Amino acid sequence: MLDQPTTTGMRASAQLLEALDPIKSDSLLALIALAEADPRNDKIDVGVGVYRDGAGGTPIFRCIKAAEQILWQHQNSKSYLGSMGDRRFTELLRPFVLGRHAGDERLLGLQTPGGCGALALGFKLVAAANPTARVLVGTPTWPNHAPVINAAGLEIVRYGYYDRDAQAIRFDEMMSMLDGARAGDVVLLHGCCHNPTGADLSQDQWADVVRTVAHRGLLPLVDIAYQGLACGLGEDAAGLHALLEVCDEVIVAQSCDKNFGVYRDRVGSLWIKSADAATSGRAMDHVAQIAREMWSMPPDHGAAAVRTVLDDQALTADWQVELAGMRARINNIRARIAAADPRLAYIGGQFGMFSMLPFDAHQVRQLRDTHAIYMADSGRFNVVGMADDAIDRFVAAVVGAMNG
Ligand code: LMR
Repeated sequence: MLDQPTTTGMRASAQLLEALDPIKSDSLLALIALAEADPRNDKIDVGVGVYRDGAGGTPIFRCIKAAEQILWQHQNSKSYLGSMGDRRFTELLRPFVLGRHAGDERLLGLQTPGGCGALALGFKLVAAANPTARVLVGTPTWPNHAPVINAAGLEIVRYGYYDRDAQAIRFDEMMSMLDGARAGDVVLLHGCCHNPTGADLSQDQWADVVRTVAHRGLLPLVDIAYQGLACGLGEDAAGLHALLEVCDEVIVAQSCDKNFGVYRDRVGSLWIKSADAATSGRAMDHVAQIAREMWSMPPDHGAAAVRTVLDDQALTADWQVELAGMRARINNIRARIAAADPRLAYIGGQFGMFSMLPFDAHQVRQLRDTHAIYMADSGRFNVVGMADDAIDRFVAAVVGAMNG
């Protein structure tokens, strides 16, 4: 007869999870929770990167609503699609993401759970190909970049991308980092709407970066999560397209979460370019295998809605109208904030949802306590996070904080 397990033995096995260290919660997710818990009616949440309209809401795009109706009526199965997700979705995205390179058969893509899923796959692919590859990351950057790169087991090499006090890109520092990089190093680049600074490379700066990346044999990994929110769908991908022109190997992590407003549905794609179609195919096989290990298959609904929009000319045209409206609102608010005080003028020359204010964590905290204004501790704020009637109050509080 088997011995009965002793109580002591059972306790020992239950202690496994007690060994876990406490974890510092993700700063942006913690901010969402803090803002939600604040009972003040006049709170202004410019923390997380979510578009808000004049009334302060984040409505579902008309074209997505229409597509969901079509899906509800005509989708006749929710059976598995496989690790690559919805292939028609990826094909229809091609021209928007890749522009004049859409016909290049060395460029292959697959559907991912949001841009974050694409980043995770891209970095894991790099690690599978070369575990000692280093990733050059300009700071500040999206707070989740480093955890995703670390999770892939890759080394991060940081350089200063932006000088918050001078409100300028540290382009010399960036270029000297790229000039001194080792062949095979990965360079993480923000395609547009730099998160968190809003400071995008100019056309000339992109040209220098592209030349150096190609010349030094570096592998660009472009995170393009906000395409269409700066100057236009094509314009916002111009740097990426220039890289595709000259680099044999490029990785692109794309997101539809913002430009189709499908945040919680998690819709994105990963694109791989290599020197020839056979190598790209092999890389895709690896990526599909990694996806299988992580989430097996991406969630379908959001991508199916985006695919339905892009499969219909009228819905695609309406999507572009809505996107242009979002862009106009972002740029109008930027202009309005910039005009309010000369010290805020730089915000008018930046792009996308984010800019940084010259505040330390203490000032950020004071804005929160005194004015119910929620922004990241870094001073990053979402320019399009507030309703129209909150803008003046926000600007007044910011100017007041700057005056000390
Ligand atoms: C942000 O930076 O606010 C967004 O990308 C949301 C997120 O997942 O962090």
